Amino acid sequence: MKIFADTAEVDAIRRLSEAGLIDGITTNPSLIAKSGRNFLEVVAEIAGIVDGPVSAEVTALDTDTMLKEADVLAAIAPNICIKLPLTMDGLRACKALTAKGLQTNVTLCFSVNQAILAAKAGATYVSPFVGRLDDINLDGAALLRDIRTAYDNYETFNTQILAASLRTANHVTDAALAGADAATIPPAVIEGLSKHPLTDKGLDGFIKDWKATGQSIL
Ligand code: E4P
Repeated sequence: MKIFADTAEVDAIRRLSEAGLIDGITTNPSLIAKSGRNFLEVVAEIAGIVDGPVSAEVTALDTDTMLKEADVLAAIAPNICIKLPLTMDGLRACKALTAKGLQTNVTLCFSVNQAILAAKAGATYVSPFVGRLDDINLDGAALLRDIRTAYDNYETFNTQILAASLRTANHVTDAALAGADAATIPPAVIEGLSKHPLTDKGLDGFIKDWKATGQSIL
């Protein structure tokens, strides 16, 4: 499963990229607002840090303006992936951008039927929002599993499932068990995935016993 960092915070992206842990980045207008940075500038900086896809989201609601915005975003760097909302206008724009050979990420997916349309539109990625379904007492992980099953029924569906709105380590496990192709995860959650109390306890014991031998490797 590919791991994308779900953030527009450049310091966190650098840290994770240097650790070799991330395959790409997703941003959205809310994350850009949170960063306090200029959209085009911060996306250009991020695209220079990571080699993989950097999702940058259009903000227009109609296809024609989405396509104009996509031209601006795509010109930033070759690894920009145009993020589009899962609406009829977004799907039309997705089809047109796919025909131009651009990467696309169709976002705000909350149903199998929406994911089917994203695949028909030729999306590179579809982003089902797990956490936002859980927020309203629905089953986000079940949606990932169902989209996986639906896509696997048809060889012509090549869209990758990018599990999004993941807020916890358990969400990440859910995404992997559901067979998501990629998961986009907030940096703090990515770093938290390395933690286990038995790892810390075991390491303490090994280091204590090693010190008692009086030996040194170097
Ligand atoms: C990423 O593509 C999504 O925009 C993001 O994961 C949404 O996460 P949220 O539901 O926690 O805002």
